[in-house]
Amino acid sequence: MTTLAGLKAIVTGAGKGIGAGILKRLREGGASAIGFDTQPSDDMMVCDVSDESAVERAVAQSIAKLGGLDVVVNNAGIMLEQPFIHTSAADFDRIIAVNLRGTFLIAREAARHFLSAPRQTPGKIINIASELAHLGRADYAPYCASKGGVISLTRSLAHELAPIVLVNAVAPGPTDTEMLQSERQYHTLKATGDGIALRRLGHPTDIAGAVAFLASSDANFITGSVLDVNGGAAMY
Ligand SMILES: NC(=O)c1ccc[n+]([C@@H]2O[C@H](COP(=O)([O-])OP(=O)(O)OC[C@H]3O[C@@H](n4cnc5c(N)ncnc54)[C@H](O)[C@@H]3O)[C@@H](O)[C@H]2O)c1
Repeated sequence: MTTLAGLKAIVTGAGKGIGAGILKRLREGGASAIGFDTQPSDDMMVCDVSDESAVERAVAQSIAKLGGLDVVVNNAGIMLEQPFIHTSAADFDRIIAVNLRGTFLIAREAARHFLSAPRQTPGKIINIASELAHLGRADYAPYCASKGGVISLTRSLAHELAPIVLVNAVAPGPTDTEMLQSERQYHTLKATGDGIALRRLGHPTDIAGAVAFLASSDANFITGSVLDVNGGAAMY
């Protein structure tokens, strides 16, 4: 039976949307979990995942507070909808800094901890990618490239850190959060479910369920995988 009892976890970008759903699901399952976000709140540690020293500090503080670490969920992400020819190098760098460098930095600090002492159970790194990493999309080139990078990073780390650390990705499809609500096509997509086999948008709980599975011991023979959670929006 899937259980998260006793696990110690960090979830980035946990202030709202999918990250908030993941944090809630892990806690409801019995894990002790700390959320990171750039937006301060009572329940959140302030940490910009693209800032190396902030990540080093926040991960070390979390490990001290939790009394260890078993799972990190790299969920923090930003998106930009803009024609490619109007995209500046600064726009590109900003997307890559949060979505890919942030994932790299958090994963590295977690891996350093996981490899620093013998473990009874594997440490886990779960990276939130996107179906757009596979599909690509007009007006989203830096975002899609960043998420392709997240999947490639996931596979490389799965090879390098095995068997002590399991590294997997979850690739959500369109999920009803502020990020999706900022897209031009949101209202049409929500009304029609066009292109989604299940004819509805995902909810953060849909993504959180997949993350909870990968965090649990039920997934202890899974590494280097990408779990697609997209209602059938992308089948390949
Ligand atoms: N919503 C979708 O349709 C969808 C689809 C596929 C993938 N995703 C991915 O899921 C993840 C969560 O997306 P969402 O829809 O919940 O987005 P959201 O914009 O609703 O929430 C993102 C959260 O991340 C935080 N954040 C942003 N930059 C940060 C930084 N530098 N450091 C720490 N926290 C930061 C924000 O403050 C916010 O709380 C992202 O990686 C996104 O790319 C979303």
